[in-house]
Amino acid sequence: MSQPSDPIDIHTTAGKLADLQRRIDEATHAGSARAVEKQHAKGKLTARERVALLLDEGSFVELDEFARHRSTDFGMEHNRPYGDGVVTGYGTVDGRPVAVFSQDFTVLGGSLGEVFGQKIMKVMDFALKTGCPVVGINDSGGARIQEGVMALGMYGEIFRRNVHASGVVPQISLIVGPCAGGAVYSPAITDFTVMVDQTSHMFITGPDVIKTVTGEDVGFEELGGARTHNSTSGVAHHMAGDEKDAIEYVKSLLSYLPSNNLSEPPAFPEEADTEVSDVDAELDTLIPDSANQPYDMHTVIEHVLDEGEFLETQALFAPNILTGFGRVEGHPVGIVANQPMQFAGCLDIDASEKAARFVRTCDAFNIPVLTFVDVPGFLPGTDQEYNGIIRRGAKLIYAYAEATVPLITVITRKAFGGAYDVMGSKHLGADLNLAWPTAQIAVMGAQGAVNILHRRTIAEAEDVEATRARLITEYEDTLLNPYVAADRGYIDAVVMPSQTRAQIVKGLRHLRTKREALPPKKHGNIPL
Ligand code: HXC
Repeated sequence: MSQPSDPIDIHTTAGKLADLQRRIDEATHAGSARAVEKQHAKGKLTARERVALLLDEGSFVELDEFARHRSTDFGMEHNRPYGDGVVTGYGTVDGRPVAVFSQDFTVLGGSLGEVFGQKIMKVMDFALKTGCPVVGINDSGGARIQEGVMALGMYGEIFRRNVHASGVVPQISLIVGPCAGGAVYSPAITDFTVMVDQTSHMFITGPDVIKTVTGEDVGFEELGGARTHNSTSGVAHHMAGDEKDAIEYVKSLLSYLPSNNLSEPPAFPEEADTEVSDVDAELDTLIPDSANQPYDMHTVIEHVLDEGEFLETQALFAPNILTGFGRVEGHPVGIVANQPMQFAGCLDIDASEKAARFVRTCDAFNIPVLTFVDVPGFLPGTDQEYNGIIRRGAKLIYAYAEATVPLITVITRKAFGGAYDVMGSKHLGADLNLAWPTAQIAVMGAQGAVNILHRRTIAEAEDVEATRARLITEYEDTLLNPYVAADRGYIDAVVMPSQTRAQIVKGLRHLRTKREALPPKKHGNIPL
């Protein structure tokens, strides 16, 4: 480094220190001013700005700041920026340790070569050894073309680490630029993927290749933008308005998650008041008299969670089921709830997979699951059958049945047919099953049941409508209530809606010491 004309003399201590400072300055400005300007013009932050926003001030400790590629092909030996296009290290978020890598699009397009890949692998290994979450910030042109198979090899190594870390430490992916080709599979394996509207894109093959191969015309945004992956494909869990919003969401997610599978999620020391309050009493008038009239399940959730705070995941995907996090008496809980406002709360493929993955995430990370049920059944149709509702819906059964975290289920209204079993029923292993007096637990709704049971009587009746109405009332009075299930102990208690919060608080207190083990095995074989 030191030249005869160089003011820094590296043969002195002061010179060696100054030389280090110069290298640090070079590393922190590895991207050209032009590239940084271009990045900002797109509404994007730089890799280091993102790390600074994510981590507590002054907590970041960088690793491999001076690592550089050793590639000599295509004139690469003349372009060896410090850091090789990715910033890695560790720090804290709200005082809790987190490992991070942040791909730097301003350096070699954030493309992943051998050294870049090794840096990510090192920080992932570090997180796995120390038991802390990994946040991966993705903004990259993908495999570094000049480094060929070495780049592909590194992706494979990262995928393997993603899999090994799965269920051990939380892994969160922020997509804040391009994430193309096989590179998308690393975020896909992580627990949560957060995208930014308009500036982040994920796809296996880009618009040009699609046009060449299939003739289909599709733009970046429509193909793999944040809205597409949040609402259509279900790849992403949150669509942020900008990068700051995305980073805030990641921090919120981390606040509900333990550092690793051997730790408990972070809790605030709080004692809930278990007296029924005026706010609790609002739930007593929530359910409409007509079974076909919808209501917003968010209201129930917000009445149960501390401060009514619900951090929804995949809010735009399969909105007929709600998933997300909140706290009860200061302790994190996961929520799964049918949403009567969408498809009457029917279960379909997307809803089943969304909820199944969420239940498994909670179970892996010791977060109790609260399930709120108002489900008329599975969505009928060839579309659902041909696309595999049988094997894909089965995932939700699998997820509940293998979950060993505390499970509390509340049936607010309908719990019909197979969907009754699937939605955290006692039979799948839930610990406490509550029902409101408005619950209807049966094989099917009154209309369908009467048409099947009394087809002949209705056909032969003089007054068809009056007969049908009488039979419907008879069916409703006999079976459409929670008491048949309560009689069998399938429901532990029928409670006033206003008592739900207190019941859940008391139930979770008691279940904190729950211990349950499944039969030893290599791993189960969930229908994928
Ligand atoms: C090497 C790359 C690169 C790459 C971009 N750059 N991608 N260098 N390997 N994969 C470089 C560019 O040459 C340019 O260098 C700088 O990064 C910025 O790129 P631009 O093209 O100027 O930026 P922009 O116009 O914003 O376009 C971004 C882009 C485009 C859409 C991502 O760069 C692009 O299409 N890149 C190739 C994407 C791709 O096909 N990657 C391989 C995917 S397959 P200069 O020196 O001019 O600043 C893959 C396999 C993973 O990744 C395997 C897993 C199993």
